[in-house]
Amino acid sequence: MNKKLNVGLIGYGFMGRTHSNAYCKVGHFFDVPYEPVLRVVCGLEEKVAKAFAEQWGYESYTTDWHKVIEDDKVDVVDICVPNNVHAEIAIAAAKAGKAIVCEKPLALNGVQGKKMVDAIEKAGVANLVSFNYRRVPAVTLAKMLIDEGRLGRIFHYRANFLQDWTISTKVPQGGMGTWRLDVKAAGSGVTGDLLAHCIDTAMWQNGPIGSVCAMTETFVKERMHVETGKVEAVGIDDACTFFCRFDNGSLGNFESTRYARGHKALYTFEINGEHASIAWDLHDLHRLSYFDHRDESIVRGWRSVHVTDSDMPYMGNWWVPGLQIGYEHTFVHQAADFLVNLAKGKPTSPTFREALATQYVCDAVLASAKNQKWEKVKKA
Ligand SMILES: NC(=O)c1ccc[n+]([C@@H]2O[C@H](COP(=O)([O-])OP(=O)(O)OC[C@H]3O[C@@H](n4cnc5c(N)ncnc54)[C@H](O)[C@@H]3O)[C@@H](O)[C@H]2O)c1
Repeated sequence: MNKKLNVGLIGYGFMGRTHSNAYCKVGHFFDVPYEPVLRVVCGLEEKVAKAFAEQWGYESYTTDWHKVIEDDKVDVVDICVPNNVHAEIAIAAAKAGKAIVCEKPLALNGVQGKKMVDAIEKAGVANLVSFNYRRVPAVTLAKMLIDEGRLGRIFHYRANFLQDWTISTKVPQGGMGTWRLDVKAAGSGVTGDLLAHCIDTAMWQNGPIGSVCAMTETFVKERMHVETGKVEAVGIDDACTFFCRFDNGSLGNFESTRYARGHKALYTFEINGEHASIAWDLHDLHRLSYFDHRDESIVRGWRSVHVTDSDMPYMGNWWVPGLQIGYEHTFVHQAADFLVNLAKGKPTSPTFREALATQYVCDAVLASAKNQKWEKVKKA
């Protein structure tokens, strides 16, 4: 029998569901040393928290996150709340000696993120930030191919994350569904919300980013604020494009917007190396495109690798070759890696410190757009 590990989930929204689903499934598909027990769920509305607890099998519910931290039985605090609440909860959880899983971005900004890193490192608690796209098997495979040196020297890294859900001026800011448009709750717009994912994947695959040059735009300057009922200035970036230099000498090109009509969540990246190139697309997430110039010229071309074979990352734990998995599974993989490493006392990547490096890139991007000049990225 595996040791039980009591989970206290804070936030029962979109991410609260993906994380709960992962805890329910992980032990059925992965050989993990712990059995996650859904001890308590917390969210702002009592009725919703109660219904969520019943639906997912949480033993109890609360509307006060302090109660989750104060619960001696809770081993892991899982933070799935808007960005402005991450720091306070994570620092309190660290002081209470809990292991912590925190949704991305780590914090509102680097200064706040650094305080979180200091707190968890001082407490010596296990920690993980949920940049889940690393654990799409095709994305993990891309990292493996790069680490094996198949691409050779890398010249270019380009990534996009495109959405179209805030084009209407009638979309409000603040409140439950639209906190992402309120700079006080989100910290930034697409930079922290979407580009943070691209930056995390990029630095994991291609190493640190040294300097950035960015432009941002807020297309809709005023929106009704759900909490005040007043039309207020919008403080987030609706769109952001930036260039960067990686420390390995390669050039980066990143774009994110919520104004790309026709795109719901199109995360793509392409990496061009001396020998080979790799491309990936979230809308076709089980495929990895691969081009190898060393192939015989008469059969040389882009291959579309169907990432479902059992020797491919994570896939041996799922169905049979040829059958695909999807978005929710990235969180199951994350939970599996976290539980295995927790038992061994090993860190699971990305740690808070690694997520701070991403936060510093986001800070530099926003500073560059504001100051209209290249900015150096602070090292985490
Ligand atoms: N990894 C990913 O791909 C991904 C995707 C979406 C969101 N996120 C991140 O996850 C976090 C949550 O986003 P979401 O989309 O799940 O949000 P959401 O709006 O769906 O849910 C937020 C939840 O937080 C709760 N909450 C808010 N303030 C609280 C407080 N003070 N105390 C207790 N509960 C509180 C709300 O009741 C709600 O249950 C954000 O940091 C976001 O950036 C990550």
